[in-house]
Amino acid sequence: MQTNEDGTITVGIGLISVGWMGQLHSRAYSNLRYAYPDLGIRPRLVHAADTAPARAQEAVDVLGYERASADYHEVLNDPEVDVVSICAPNFLHAEIAIAAAAAGKHFWIEKPVGRGEEETRAVSTAAAEAGVVSSIGFNYRHAPAIEHLRTLIATGELGRITNVRGHMFADYSADPRGALSWRFIRNLAGSGVLGDLMGHLVDLVQYTLGPIAEVSALTSTVYAERAELPMGSGTHFAVVEDGEMKPVENEDYAGMLIRLSDDAIAADAVGTLEASRVAVGPRASYGIEIYGTNGSAHWDFERLNELHVSSGLGAAHQGYTRVMASPGMGDFGRFQPGAGTSMGYDDLKVIEAKKFLEAVVGRAALNSNIQDALSAAQVVSAAERSAEDRQWAVSQPVAGTTAAVQA
Ligand SMILES: NC(=O)c1ccc[n+]([C@@H]2O[C@H](COP(=O)([O-])OP(=O)(O)OC[C@H]3O[C@@H](n4cnc5c(N)ncnc54)[C@H](O)[C@@H]3O)[C@@H](O)[C@H]2O)c1
Repeated sequence: MQTNEDGTITVGIGLISVGWMGQLHSRAYSNLRYAYPDLGIRPRLVHAADTAPARAQEAVDVLGYERASADYHEVLNDPEVDVVSICAPNFLHAEIAIAAAAAGKHFWIEKPVGRGEEETRAVSTAAAEAGVVSSIGFNYRHAPAIEHLRTLIATGELGRITNVRGHMFADYSADPRGALSWRFIRNLAGSGVLGDLMGHLVDLVQYTLGPIAEVSALTSTVYAERAELPMGSGTHFAVVEDGEMKPVENEDYAGMLIRLSDDAIAADAVGTLEASRVAVGPRASYGIEIYGTNGSAHWDFERLNELHVSSGLGAAHQGYTRVMASPGMGDFGRFQPGAGTSMGYDDLKVIEAKKFLEAVVGRAALNSNIQDALSAAQVVSAAERSAEDRQWAVSQPVAGTTAAVQA
């Protein structure tokens, strides 16, 4: 990192994997200066790697990296790279993150961190030993409406929180001709929708309400076979006609009952969480409904700028008020000057980039971290065990998370 004459800090960025998320991380770094001109941190896109030659070339030609390689080690060995974005498929996460930590590079890594709890714990240990900063791609927690919801809960506006209902219903594989991308192969992805979408929901619950202590879960696979999609081509939204059919190795749907821990802001609250990648109707309906003794609130990613808040017990006109995200709620004012003009998904990643880089330069650590990822991975593992044993399963407390706990 280099401190410039005007006091700004230039941070050398490395990128590993130039798929959907790699491109999005890059746009987030590039857009940082527009949303946060006063941040004093200047990302410099230095070195990207992807095994698909066209993607590596795209990193230079389109995204603006100074150089690109096929081998990610070249990025980690580059002395001009200070931090790395790890946007590879899940099976490479632990290997790359552990190598990044050993090279002294702070990392922003996509979720899920590895193929399960064990790999996530190995990354957590490596990051702690190396003393590097980590941030996780839990982007939904940055939505201004979610930040507002978190405040409503913490200040007791909804009363004592009694229960939560959450869902992550996507249709990216609802078409039976939907491609068998790496996401459907256990050795490449780990779990299916549990790691892919349920992990996001677990993070939202833990960020707003506190740690999940135990779960009872079930899973199902709706389509047993799909046509194969070569790595580095297309996205997981791709539809393949007449491809070679291969088995789907992980779950399309997961549902679970949860109980929160006794140190959560919502101590001992209970709830139901569901996730599906084959829902027909919802496109990316990622929702959370929180109920308390004095009110409730609903949020859905398909309308990410809105929070529906109940008027509260005993109000003259009971019902829901549609509260639009507005300046003063989270970082909304950095993107739009007034309510009603919408922020979008990409903006959530700009906020994530900002929190990551602020932590890297030693300012307040408002970022999600590897302990948050470990905690989410433990809940997902507990769900997998529970679905297999048909028993409740416990998720042990994790220190150092940003979960909402009692003071
Ligand atoms: N936070 C979110 O909302 C969100 C959304 C989508 C994906 N993700 C996560 O992001 C990660 C990447 O997903 P994606 O959708 O961008 O995948 P993708 O399939 O679009 O891209 C993966 C890229 O990795 C490259 N790659 C494969 N092997 C490599 C290697 N050895 N070295 C370097 N690059 C290699 C491929 O060529 C491809 O370009 C996953 O962990 C996924 O779960 C997070």
